[in-house]
Amino acid sequence: MANETVTITDNSTGKSIDLPIKSGTHGPRVIDIAKLQSELGMFTFDPGFMSTAACESGITFIDGDKGVLLYRGYPIEQLAEHSDFMETCYLLWYGRLPTADEKQKFDGIISHHTMVHEGLHNFYNGFRRDAHPMAITVGVVGALSAFYHDSLDIWNDRHREISAHRLIAKMPTIAAGAYRFSRGEPFAYPKNKLKYAENFLHMMFSFPTEEYQVNKVAAEALDLIFLLHADHEQNASTATVRLAGSSQANPFACMSAGVGALWGPAHGGANEAVIKMLQHIGDVKHVDKAVERAKDKNDTFRLMGFGHRVYKNYDPRAKIIRKACMDVLKELKVSDPLFDIAMKLEEIALKDPYFIEKKLYPNVDFYSGIILRAIGIPTSMFTVIFVIGRTIGWISQWNEMMTEKNLKIGRPRQLYTGPAIRDYEPVEKRK
Ligand code: SDX
Repeated sequence: MANETVTITDNSTGKSIDLPIKSGTHGPRVIDIAKLQSELGMFTFDPGFMSTAACESGITFIDGDKGVLLYRGYPIEQLAEHSDFMETCYLLWYGRLPTADEKQKFDGIISHHTMVHEGLHNFYNGFRRDAHPMAITVGVVGALSAFYHDSLDIWNDRHREISAHRLIAKMPTIAAGAYRFSRGEPFAYPKNKLKYAENFLHMMFSFPTEEYQVNKVAAEALDLIFLLHADHEQNASTATVRLAGSSQANPFACMSAGVGALWGPAHGGANEAVIKMLQHIGDVKHVDKAVERAKDKNDTFRLMGFGHRVYKNYDPRAKIIRKACMDVLKELKVSDPLFDIAMKLEEIALKDPYFIEKKLYPNVDFYSGIILRAIGIPTSMFTVIFVIGRTIGWISQWNEMMTEKNLKIGRPRQLYTGPAIRDYEPVEKRK
């Protein structure tokens, strides 16, 4: 509503100020605290940004209580059923679904940008063979600005669009290169006739010595995984991309910052951590013990793939992936004991008062690893798969920020609790 305000009073001085309240399309209203420091001489204090909206955005909306996720207003369930990853990339970047012609043109643009500069291949040789693929990916993505500097004017709409096309198109090529390098295998060049996920599987698993037949079930499952990971409001890695972009760094440097932030096991690294956790549990009969350990404050063990800052209900993506898991395992005639352990873990945790009271539900990472295993993706590549899906979200959020009228550099303040001001003591006087 227009002119809604909230009054803040500093009881130590009696001074009060009225702060404007802003409303969006969906979700909580926000208090605009911009004048808090100038009028009350205070900052807000919110480590982890539990109650902080850092920006205005029209790209993705999450209702954590209802388990709702919208990409540009479309429910994730409808996009998962009727759309595909390329169409979703178009939607997130341009803000609307493409016509048939627009979709065909966009698919063609992306297909024709999938190759990387040959010089980029040399970067891989600088890594150890056993380097984690995320270590390679964060380095190679950052290096892209050394190769594609012909369109780095961040204030130029067309340059930003070209960089977005390049990033969407080249991420699978960079990712597959990290995998091939780790195995001492030659890089496989992309094939323009293949669809996005098919092309990635070809670059991952084809050999120059024989024809490679893409498994359509695997390609479809991977396309769904990319779609479900495409964007998710201001999560840690997207917030990192925005903060890097606010300094006016080039888009490739910002993406590299996002890759680094995603790697952590509390964020995108959770999909790899879930599989390691399920392998460690080892058998359904050990699930009860694992749940007890996850509840024990003195035990650092947590149920990876469970809990979420925003979802206090089932992550809608987890529901979709869980069903896809069953379909893919059945269609590929794969039985994975880890899936049985995961389902048992979910069954027990969702009935446990600790998890109910703390509203801990499976998140997108809980089941995604099971599908990736079923289609042959090695565990060390799981977070890199997340990077491929999330690249469109990062670059769309970056683009949205770059078109803001009064873009300011992000520069949070702090509550200082260090030593009070003091004079330097000459060394001979120190005890
Ligand atoms: C992603 O932000 C996004 O949108 C991220 C993401 C995206 O698409 O970008 O959705 C992708 O990162 C999903 C989350 C993947 N991470 C994991 O699965 C790791 C396990 N989950 C936890 O580390 C945790 O739930 C977080 C990091 C996801 C959320 O942490 P919060 O919001 O800071 O919550 P918290 O750590 O303060 O936990 C609240 C309480 C705590 O207990 P108390 O201190 O209140 O007694 O719940 C407990 C926690 O100990 N808790 C868990 C738990 N997660 C939280 N207890 C056991 N197992 C868990 N997994």
